[in-house]
Amino acid sequence: MINAPPEPVRILLVDDTPTNLVVLSESIQDQGWVILFATDGETAIEQAEYAKPDLILLDVMMPGINGFETCQRLKSSQLTAEIPIIFMTALSDTVDKVKGLNLGAVDYITKPFQQEEVVARVGMQLRLHQMNRQLEEKNQLLNQKIAEQAKTEAELQQLTGELEQRVQTRTAELSEAVENLKQAQVHLVQSEKMSSLGQMVAGIAHEINNPVNFIYGNLRPAQDYFQELIELVDHYQQCYPQPDEALQEHLAEVDLPFLKKDTYKLLESLKLGADRIRQIVLSLRNFSRLDEADIKSVNLHEGIDSTLLILQHKLRGVAGAHPVEVVKNYSEIGEIECFPSQLNQVFMNILANAIDALEEHVKTLDKPEAESFLPVVNISTELSSDQYAIIKISDNGPGIPEHIRTRLFDPFFTTKSVGKGTGLGLSISHQIVVDKHRGEIECVSAPGEGTCFVMKIPRSQAIAATTSSLAQ
Ligand SMILES: Nc1ncnc2c1ncn2[C@@H]1O[C@H](COP(=O)(O)OP(=O)(O)OP(=O)(O)O)[C@@H](O)[C@H]1O
Ligand SMILES: [Mg+2]
Repeated sequence: MINAPPEPVRILLVDDTPTNLVVLSESIQDQGWVILFATDGETAIEQAEYAKPDLILLDVMMPGINGFETCQRLKSSQLTAEIPIIFMTALSDTVDKVKGLNLGAVDYITKPFQQEEVVARVGMQLRLHQMNRQLEEKNQLLNQKIAEQAKTEAELQQLTGELEQRVQTRTAELSEAVENLKQAQVHLVQSEKMSSLGQMVAGIAHEINNPVNFIYGNLRPAQDYFQELIELVDHYQQCYPQPDEALQEHLAEVDLPFLKKDTYKLLESLKLGADRIRQIVLSLRNFSRLDEADIKSVNLHEGIDSTLLILQHKLRGVAGAHPVEVVKNYSEIGEIECFPSQLNQVFMNILANAIDALEEHVKTLDKPEAESFLPVVNISTELSSDQYAIIKISDNGPGIPEHIRTRLFDPFFTTKSVGKGTGLGLSISHQIVVDKHRGEIECVSAPGEGTCFVMKIPRSQAIAATTSSLAQ
């Protein structure tokens, strides 16, 4: 690219005295500057607007509009305001010099002219003007860059904002998805746990039910037949008081009086045993209640008792320690409208946890302490004035520290070793009590003070509906 040669500097000389113009142009012509002339104010303004000189040397005293007015008009026009003006005044005219500078002139030169001074002052003003212009250009450039940067920053900020918003939305979506997944998992495990345990218990109960019933059913005829046989033997003895020797020996051998007495006892205990098995079967069916998936009114005490029966083996505790004593304090709470098999599952979870905690506690004690420690589980029920069944299950185990207590109902939270606990028992119980029955469940516990789980189940779902609508 070929650079265009720099434009020559142009100076406009304004004076009504031609001699002055000649002298002036002679003074500055060696500098290579192009000289333009005007002999009055109006022409000077026209020239300035048209030719855009780099500097104006302006006489004060002129016919028509004088130098001051010319200067004023040049400064007030956008086209010429930036052109530096140097006034030419008489040496003694201080007032004129000040007036000129106040009107926007950059300098003055005094008549009669000194060539060096004119050149020096004009040259200086040209350089100053040039520098000013460069400064302004740079300033403009800088402002432009600042504006661009501000725009970029604003765009960046907007982008960052949008990004943050998107990240927030995404995170919220993700946590919701994780929460849903956890809930789904809990539901799955719950129904699997429930149905497999319930089905097994129901199956066992069903299988035992038939044989035990015919044992139980045949015991009475067996007792009657035995009675008749004994009566027959007695009758024989009365009719034949002197039997032959072989028979006498046989009678002595079997010890007939003992046989009679003991067989009665034996049949009686068989009957007791069969009766117990029948009760156990009933309890197992009560626990599983597979045939009762719907909501119905039941006696909660039966559910608790049958759960305890299933946990009987666990209550025996660890070797060398006392078995767990269960203290029941049942009040008259009537029938409660609920999903019985699900509430039994809750009792099962809470009782099993209490027994586990007691067992673990015993293991931490030394031998004499373990031998004297009496593990107890207390179960109490009552009906509150607002018609809620309140069930409290407490143990005198190690208690639960605050940092664990706050997470008890979280799905998969467990302090038990892998394989021993899934950490779902309490989370499932919470769901059953709170979501399914519109009840409440809470844990009151502190280290060294045992643990108490308190459940509130509405006596009927209609009661739950009125209390929850009142609470809203
Ligand atoms: N009575 C209690 N005393 C002390 N800690 C308890 C008691 N009940 C529950 N916990 C604590 O709460 C945790 C969670 O109990 P949860 O029943 O939900 O799960 P888990 O018993 O560990 O496993 P599982 O799913 O087999 O029931 C337990 O691991 C235990 O640390
Ligand atoms: Mg548990």
